[in-house]
Amino acid sequence: MAAVIDNDIARPAPRTERGPAVPQEQGAEPGHRPGSLAFQAVGKTYTSAAGSLQALQGINLDIPAGAIYGIIGRSGAGKSSLIRTINRLEKPTDGRVLIDGQDIGGYDEDALVALRRRIGMIFQHFNLLSAKTVWGNVALPLIVAGLPRRQIEERVAEVLALVGLEDKRNVYPSRLSGGQKQRVGIARALVHHPEILLCDEATSALDPETTLSILQLLKDINRRLNLTIVLITHEMSVIREICDHVVVLEQGRMVESGPVWRVFGNPQHAATRALLQPLHRDLPEDIAHRLRPQSDPARKEDAIIALSYTGEDGLEPDIAAIAAAIGAPMRLLQSALDRIDGHVHGQLLIAARRFEIHQPSQLDGLAHDTRILGYVDSDV
Ligand SMILES: Nc1ncnc2c1ncn2[C@@H]1O[C@H](COP(=O)(O)OP(=O)(O)O)[C@@H](O)[C@H]1O
Ligand SMILES: [Mg+2]
Repeated sequence: MAAVIDNDIARPAPRTERGPAVPQEQGAEPGHRPGSLAFQAVGKTYTSAAGSLQALQGINLDIPAGAIYGIIGRSGAGKSSLIRTINRLEKPTDGRVLIDGQDIGGYDEDALVALRRRIGMIFQHFNLLSAKTVWGNVALPLIVAGLPRRQIEERVAEVLALVGLEDKRNVYPSRLSGGQKQRVGIARALVHHPEILLCDEATSALDPETTLSILQLLKDINRRLNLTIVLITHEMSVIREICDHVVVLEQGRMVESGPVWRVFGNPQHAATRALLQPLHRDLPEDIAHRLRPQSDPARKEDAIIALSYTGEDGLEPDIAAIAAAIGAPMRLLQSALDRIDGHVHGQLLIAARRFEIHQPSQLDGLAHDTRILGYVDSDV
């Protein structure tokens, strides 16, 4: 696997700013790069003998061409239903889906076949044919499309090189690792030079290391091929790794949407906070254990101070300014900061000797929120 991960395709290129680079094609109208998507008041109700279930309601969302959009939500939130309206594996019961400004609602079968060639899709369980080799799996959409053999050979070789699987062309899926299977899935999704790639929990069956290598490959493909990627996941770590923008779905509704740094730095909805919980660090247990809510002047004690950063306004922890404002011996107990697109968010936990609770204004402007969590007996 190491050799596969370590080819130059999977290696991340330096990137100063997230978000789509927008190289205009010669003569292309500005803002009209292919691969943009719009949902307008999209709703989906499943009706069966058992009754009806409203899986999506009032979804309004614009996804610019070349972006990497993440859609996150708990199981059953409607993620798959939403993503499948893009290639019309599901037909919305309300509203419209526009691709490059065109309403796909009225497309007939021929138009849908053509549309689906512009939209690749990869899945959690790879959906490979076990009786066909890697080459056979990747070539299949081209064979179905009736391309001449020579063109098929050329294109399959290209996409297998792109995903780092040139040496696996004659291997059957059962002999591949999960990561290699997903690379085959990606190669197959790319054979028709799509404008949009849909990823439905594409890394959910993979271990963390393989997940990272697949996400790096997707990021690289997005940059090289200027492909719009719409990715659904239930893991915030996947969003953090690859997406420009995140949309949170809860019970079929969009409850939050924004640049990843903003949503991570200052989540507004309870569902978002619950999804972010696995990335958060709690108060260290040894501190939590000893914490007293009130100061006791008779004791030699430290105030435990939490300074929080949301990523807004370019505010970053200025350690010297914090130390000067506290004006007493202090120690950094824990730092749980992250930096996304140049925005720092997270929390610093500080122990400060003799810090007086009636002076919290001393720290004004040094963090987005400052709280004295309590007091512990000083052990230094
Ligand atoms: N074909 C279907 N028929 C009936 N109900 C469905 C169908 N597909 C999905 N659902 C229901 O719609 C809701 C959303 O499902 P889904 O879009 O698969 O969510 P997610 O991908 O976020 O887990 C769930 O309650 C699910 O049971
Ligand atoms: Mg799903």
